[in-house]
Amino acid sequence: MNPNPQIIVLDAGGQYCHLIARKVRDLGVYAEVRASETRAEELSSAKGLIISGGPSSVYDPESPTVDPSIFAQGQPVLGICYGQQLMAHLLGGDVRRGDKGEYGLATLDLDHTPDLLFAGLGGPQQVWMSHRDTVYCVPEGFSVVGRTATCAVAAVAAPTRGLYAVQFHPEVVHTTRGKELLANFVFRICSCVKDWDPRYRVPLIEQEIRDCVGDRNVFFFVSGGVDSSVAFALCLRALGEDRVRGVYVDTGLMREGETAFVSGLPGVSVEDAQEQFLTALAGVTEPERKRHVIGEEFVRVQERVIEARRLLDEHWILGQGTIYPDTIESGGTNKAALIKTHHNRVAGIQRLMETGRIVEPLKSLYKDEVREVGRELGLASELLDRHPFPGPGLAIRCLCSECDAPVRQTAEGWVIPVHSVGVQGDSRSYAPILAIERVDHARGTELVNRLTNVNRVVASVARKAPLEQMRVRACSLTPQRLARLRAADAMVRRLSHQSGFDHRVWQFPVILIPLGTAEAPDSIVLRPIDSVDGMTAQSVVMPAMLLDGICQGLLALEGIAGVLYDLTHKPPGTIEWE
Ligand code: XMP
Repeated sequence: MNPNPQIIVLDAGGQYCHLIARKVRDLGVYAEVRASETRAEELSSAKGLIISGGPSSVYDPESPTVDPSIFAQGQPVLGICYGQQLMAHLLGGDVRRGDKGEYGLATLDLDHTPDLLFAGLGGPQQVWMSHRDTVYCVPEGFSVVGRTATCAVAAVAAPTRGLYAVQFHPEVVHTTRGKELLANFVFRICSCVKDWDPRYRVPLIEQEIRDCVGDRNVFFFVSGGVDSSVAFALCLRALGEDRVRGVYVDTGLMREGETAFVSGLPGVSVEDAQEQFLTALAGVTEPERKRHVIGEEFVRVQERVIEARRLLDEHWILGQGTIYPDTIESGGTNKAALIKTHHNRVAGIQRLMETGRIVEPLKSLYKDEVREVGRELGLASELLDRHPFPGPGLAIRCLCSECDAPVRQTAEGWVIPVHSVGVQGDSRSYAPILAIERVDHARGTELVNRLTNVNRVVASVARKAPLEQMRVRACSLTPQRLARLRAADAMVRRLSHQSGFDHRVWQFPVILIPLGTAEAPDSIVLRPIDSVDGMTAQSVVMPAMLLDGICQGLLALEGIAGVLYDLTHKPPGTIEWE
């Protein structure tokens, strides 16, 4: 049994809402998430409340709110991002729409105050911001204790009332002292005691699996990635070998060597569906459409396999390795805005879920927690330390275009009309890319924040022809383009592994975009990033020698006109390009 939560996080719809609860649990204190509108008396047993961020504006009709009585029951409350704006708004302050958003890293200048929340934290420090609205005027009794260059009210306190709020996100790793701030709130202000140990997790998950599965058996479509393998192993342990089966679907969208690797796993057989997927994807260019097509084909294959193996009767249910970011970024929580559709949340799978024929043992865990669980289960580090690879495979790394279009030169660089996906605040964006000449991350960040018509900045690091002579051409997912991407990806992986660079990045997507010349119609984008959980990410500086070697190797491949290096952090660029 879980303990009663000492901290309750009120979900105002932000992507990071559950991350807050998890960070509190990491401090050894049991925390749970509740709907923001939960009545104050139902929250009164907790020692403290945290109001999460969210995509709304306090002035939007039907924007999330909280029961205002929570501010008067003597229970400490911490507002984060939208939570700060909501607290200010409800208590008589003034919140205004910002002229421009503030996304990504910022420097917070925090007063040296005796306030417990900021104890020992005064001075300049790196924080992570994702907002447009700001508090313009604080409510009576509050004082402003921190600010950034573009946000005059970045931290506020009314210590005598136990009310605190920050505009930045202390729960993400890029806020360097965020953990200390949360610890101050939890221990110094709320006087919580340690009552939670992450080792409770595995037996709890196993029990959840047994409760969900009952006396049925579980059938998995494994991808060979960390998530489905850990979910599979958990089910094996919870239910025993006789009750768990795995099938690997060869979609034709996997990387080089993938099928051989996965078919070597114990208890897993291979279903060849390459032609089916490639036929369904022919002519499809739009990212969300690609995801839907893949999702639907997955369901078709699943249904075919299930029928062929007589798994349709009620003795079997489907197991999945869905992890927490997959559910929130698909709008799976109460209010999180739709950032993208994941292939395992399309209608077909949804139907299986609605009829209760699905078990997702990892759905409340983040990637790093999944790896920890895998280690506890004794899985090989060769498997657990693989970079994450998305379910829809190379399809979301092979960009397509509806029409032909020229590259356009501007004062800042070249605007390349390939639309990639990005995330700004809690919503998603589709915008062209800006290419600049040098690998300069600071300049990339400055440009992407300043320019409204692009959501990524890349450096043009190698090319067979000048950028102004290249064009974006209309194209979709063809076997030839996928083969080109597969070869490029295999080469980058090999060189990155040989140099040891693969251990210094969290993920290293290699993307094919339809930018080039008549002889060499595509270009490659390198996207090495560092992250902890995939929710936020930073573009990583590559060693010059490795970058040179990769560029030489890629330009020697058939059909490749140039190499671009993505300098964009997440946000505003997502990790994948779609
Ligand atoms: P984005 O592109 O949203 O990616 O910044 C965050 C992390 O999620 C992975 N990703 C997926 N994983 N199925 C998956 O299993 C998917 O449909 C999917 N889409 C993105 C991505 O590789 C990154 O690690």
